Amino acid sequence: MANVAVIGAQWGDEGKGKVVDWLASRADVVVRFQGGHNAGHTLVVGDVTYKLSLLPSGVVRGKLGLIGNGVVLDPDALFSEIEKVRAQGLDVGPHNLRVAETTPLILPLHPALDRAREAARGEDKIGTTGRGIGPAYEDKVGRRSIRVCDLAEPETLSFKLDELLLHHNSLLRGLGAPEFEKQPLLDALLALAPRLLPYAAPVWELLESARAEGKRVLFEGAQAVMLDVDHGTYPYVTSSNTVAGNAAAGAGVGPGSVGTVLGIAKAYATRVGAGPFPSELFDATGKLLGERGHEFGTVTGRPRRCGWFDAAMVRQAVKIGGVDGLVLTKLDVLDGLPELKICTGYCVGGEVLKRLPAAMRAQAACEPIYETLPGWAGSTRGARSYAELPAEAVKYVRRIEELVEAPVMMLSTSPDRDDTIALRDPFAG
Ligand code: IMP
Repeated sequence: MANVAVIGAQWGDEGKGKVVDWLASRADVVVRFQGGHNAGHTLVVGDVTYKLSLLPSGVVRGKLGLIGNGVVLDPDALFSEIEKVRAQGLDVGPHNLRVAETTPLILPLHPALDRAREAARGEDKIGTTGRGIGPAYEDKVGRRSIRVCDLAEPETLSFKLDELLLHHNSLLRGLGAPEFEKQPLLDALLALAPRLLPYAAPVWELLESARAEGKRVLFEGAQAVMLDVDHGTYPYVTSSNTVAGNAAAGAGVGPGSVGTVLGIAKAYATRVGAGPFPSELFDATGKLLGERGHEFGTVTGRPRRCGWFDAAMVRQAVKIGGVDGLVLTKLDVLDGLPELKICTGYCVGGEVLKRLPAAMRAQAACEPIYETLPGWAGSTRGARSYAELPAEAVKYVRRIEELVEAPVMMLSTSPDRDDTIALRDPFAG
């Protein structure tokens, strides 16, 4: 099966954009299967930097881009992103971008509820992107969502809005936030219909045709395993399943079609938003990693928390996410550090654990257990083969492979697409 799925193996921001772009140039179809415009994928192509949140990265390479049913779609965000990339010279329209008819929409009431809830949580807030992702997924499983296909049926829109507003206005009222009126929302949806419906398609059928024609499909994950609603550091997670298993359900293909699963991991660790982070650094090294790695959120601009590579956590992500191989990014950020630490497990209340415990207090109490490796004096930036790497850098990569129990299939040594050491073609299986 010549398909590939890409997922984050840490807490997001691993540099998936570049890897997905590299793979997209070898694929025929690129599909987003979960998340929404909370994602931020940066692609550097020559002198142009594209910052994508909702659009499948394949649009940059002129490939067919699909937004699967597992995504939650903010139509305003979609159209403003389309305008932005068109202004950068890309040709995006219904001929190369299709959205599943069954994709739930994010309406203005979703970010309003997201933000009102976060404000009510005060100190205990999750640190969401404020884009309405959580409330939109709640409506999906609550069977209240307005989906893309509903735009073709004004009567369906009207009665669904009644149900949605009954629910949302009760919550907003309880939180002391302004309520929403039906008519402006209905008018906006009716105006949206002729713009969005040309993009609507049975994505599952397009994928079935792609399969029958032997085309290569790339499933583009957003966020990461440790932000997965089931397997992440709950409740400090996003509201979707970010694991490769969801590529099937979130796009409309069988599990056997997902193909090779690549887990993307930075050579160190970062996290944006609240939640446990056992190997977090609060010292000068943490600051240095943040500065060198330009660790600021693509979507919200928030500074990211930085720390050492957590092999226990990535191993867990490899097992749960079904990762066949890792792509290690930003190795160059570690250049020149005298020594490097890798977290190999945790001490919790005197007990040694090789995995992250599930409960909140236990996660917060995890003390990292470190192994120390020598750093390297030379530069790894821009290396395009293993032979160009300092010996200590190769040792660091090999040790990570052993600890996480997965081979490193690709190494990324700068934001430039060509500064990549590809040890295996993932499309070759
Ligand atoms: P939400 O997805 O906006 O609900 O945010 C929930 C958590 O996921 C917060 O900690 C966010 O910072 C985090 N998050 C959501 N999307 C991303 C992403 O693309 N990269 C990194 N963190 C993310």
